[in-house]
Amino acid sequence: MHGSPVPVLALASAKDPDLILRAMRAGAREFVVLDGSHELARVVERLLKQGAKDGVGRVITVFSAKGGSGATFIAANLAGMLAEAGQRCVLVDLDLELGDVQVTLDLSGRMPISEVLRNMHRMDGELLRSSLARHASGVHVLSQVDHLEEAEQVKAPLVAPLLRFLATHFDYVVLDGLQGFGDLALAALDASDRILLVLSQTVPSLKNAQRCLELFRAFRYDGDKVRLVVNRYQKSDPIDVEAMVDSLGSPALGLVGNNYGVVTTAINQGLLMSESAPRSRITVDLRNLAATLVGKPLPEKQRSGFRSLFSSKKTTPDEPRVSAREAKEPPHGPHRATEST
Ligand SMILES: Nc1ncnc2c1ncn2[C@@H]1O[C@H](COP(=O)(O)OP(=O)(O)OP(=O)(O)O)[C@@H](O)[C@H]1O
Ligand SMILES: [Mg+2]
Repeated sequence: MHGSPVPVLALASAKDPDLILRAMRAGAREFVVLDGSHELARVVERLLKQGAKDGVGRVITVFSAKGGSGATFIAANLAGMLAEAGQRCVLVDLDLELGDVQVTLDLSGRMPISEVLRNMHRMDGELLRSSLARHASGVHVLSQVDHLEEAEQVKAPLVAPLLRFLATHFDYVVLDGLQGFGDLALAALDASDRILLVLSQTVPSLKNAQRCLELFRAFRYDGDKVRLVVNRYQKSDPIDVEAMVDSLGSPALGLVGNNYGVVTTAINQGLLMSESAPRSRITVDLRNLAATLVGKPLPEKQRSGFRSLFSSKKTTPDEPRVSAREAKEPPHGPHRATEST
């Protein structure tokens, strides 16, 4: 009975300590005295609420307010950091034709989305994980780009069942590649637990973010579902980030600094920031963002060999450090790092 996914309640007519102990040892999760109060109803309600999320992963969509904002870069690095921190994580590319998640992680396709959809009913977690491409960080990747001939089989009504299936076998399902508000994108947005809206400090990006947020409100997504991530953040930018976030009226999850050279080098080599530039401030920002999502600090990636023995502890001074301050910021400011998904 121990470890059973079905919670067991012990019901008794009196509060007998000996009986309570025996019931708990036998695997009961709660001991309820039937004394005419509403205790039983309260306990069942609480267990139902817990059960709705117990053992089910979270679906996190990274959505660009404007093309080229850095959604793929952020999705890949967040997923990689979650995996490095020991979370079972799958990165899904829903840009079926031109998605670049695989290239960003220098992987080649294994089982495509269309095949997972066909075999979902007979796959367990083990088989699923061994069928997907896997990056050295531990993150699994699911894409369609190498199997374009079957792309039309990935239809909007299948997106929610696919995500539910993945969420039963992974702690985090990170989605990239959604464009606009077509049927496929809408199905994925609806099925997401959290949407990270990536924007930058430019007027077109701000305007598009405003439009996206208006639509999210029209879709009745609750206030907790959507969070802003400001990418390529520069303190010196004439567009003040606090004012920008305030004007959008949606809470920010974090800021990721700007360094074209460091980021492009990593992308072109198919490396994550934690591999390519582990001490970079962008890496610190991304780690803070990932920590905010899981609700606890993430350990730094361990490096092996001589390099780690001789490495400096200093952060590379490539851009102003921002997210390290997040934990001290108020809940709706752009620097937070303490809230879990
Ligand atoms: N924090 C950053 N600092 C500097 N450059 C960045 C940063 N993030 C992304 N970039 C640059 O922006 C480019 C676009 O990033 P990315 O492909 O992740 O955007 P995207 O939103 O996924 O774009 P698309 O709309 O094409 O899918 C990258 O190739 C990289 O050169
Ligand atoms: Mg992209």
